Amino acid sequence: MSSEIDMEEVQEYAGNILGHMVGAATVICSDLAHKLGLYGHLAGSGGMTAGDLAEAAGTNARLTRELLDQQASSGVLSYDADEDTYALSDAGAMVMAEQHSPAWLAGGLGAVRAMYVGLDQVEAAFRGDGGVPWGDHHPCLFDGTLEFFRPCYEHHLVQEFIPALSGGETRIAEGAVVADIGCGAGLSTLTMAAAYPNSSFVGIDFHGPSIEMARTAAAEQGLNNVTFEVESATEYQGAYDLICFFDCMHDMGDPVGIAQHAKSQLSDKGSVMLIEPFAFDTRAENHAGLGGAFYGFSSFFCTPCSLSQDVGRGMGAQAGEPGMSAVFEEAGYGQFGRISETPSNIVYEAFA
Ligand SMILES: C[S@@+](CC[C@H](N)C(=O)[O-])C[C@H]1O[C@@H](n2cnc3c(N)ncnc32)[C@H](O)[C@@H]1O
Repeated sequence: MSSEIDMEEVQEYAGNILGHMVGAATVICSDLAHKLGLYGHLAGSGGMTAGDLAEAAGTNARLTRELLDQQASSGVLSYDADEDTYALSDAGAMVMAEQHSPAWLAGGLGAVRAMYVGLDQVEAAFRGDGGVPWGDHHPCLFDGTLEFFRPCYEHHLVQEFIPALSGGETRIAEGAVVADIGCGAGLSTLTMAAAYPNSSFVGIDFHGPSIEMARTAAAEQGLNNVTFEVESATEYQGAYDLICFFDCMHDMGDPVGIAQHAKSQLSDKGSVMLIEPFAFDTRAENHAGLGGAFYGFSSFFCTPCSLSQDVGRGMGAQAGEPGMSAVFEEAGYGQFGRISETPSNIVYEAFA
């Protein structure tokens, strides 16, 4: 076998894997730097020595030096050898230090950490029935999910997604009754509630700790037009002008049953707004771009979550428009279509 092997090809292949190893180490080191608050101190400082940064952050100086060298080696920070300082560029600060920037990513690294922390239970699921309930993951998943989606909800939801609905923003702004199903820590619900004070919002999720996070945030923001309930996606009752599903329908065991339940809880002219991860129409197309991240999250979180529930359809995060339109057709909706998209999400609207 070895006489046939092209060693250049082997080196190229190994180089690809080594690049992923550097990436994996950089993700967890950056997650640590974020947790320690290092990026906040570096942002706008023009560069700091390891000693000054350790003092400012209250961290161990020797360990901080080592971590900064990792960050400089991987391009997260730059290093000035003459001054012996480490710097975070202004562009880097938008990604790693500014929580409300449209390019914020540091907070979402916790979701990748949850893959590593949860490896053993996911391995057991692969050898068993495939199911891992959402709530069985380490809490860093819930906070990581909240932060991963923050740029999308803070910069696209009210600005683009709601205006793209049939009837536009007016329909939602003027006294609408809105449900956000599978709302997790509730950032999408809170963002809409803050933008549309004349309308009322309820966030629903079967995961109690996430609902507690949402209630705390609502109280901190002093919002009185939003409530949060611990319920499954088939239990809530009402007559809603809009029922939303943000990045959660594919995580659910019975998306058809859940879409049917939503249909029965819509007001006369009500509609469903469905936000799902961006995906192309074919598996092969999805293997490029963000596929490595989406299929990774889907293998560890989304698909095991779905397989842990009744029906266990296991759509996966890359089901895309073909998968989602099939669900709404099976659920008996008369109309389903794409109304908006970003590089990471597709938004659909469905009418009964
Ligand atoms: C990927 S998270 C998305 C959370 C939130 N919508 C967001 O965008 O940040 C998926 C959420 O769906 C919830 N979920 C999954 N299956 C559910 C079900 N059958 N009923 C209610 N919530 C469910 C999980 O608890 C989790 O909070």
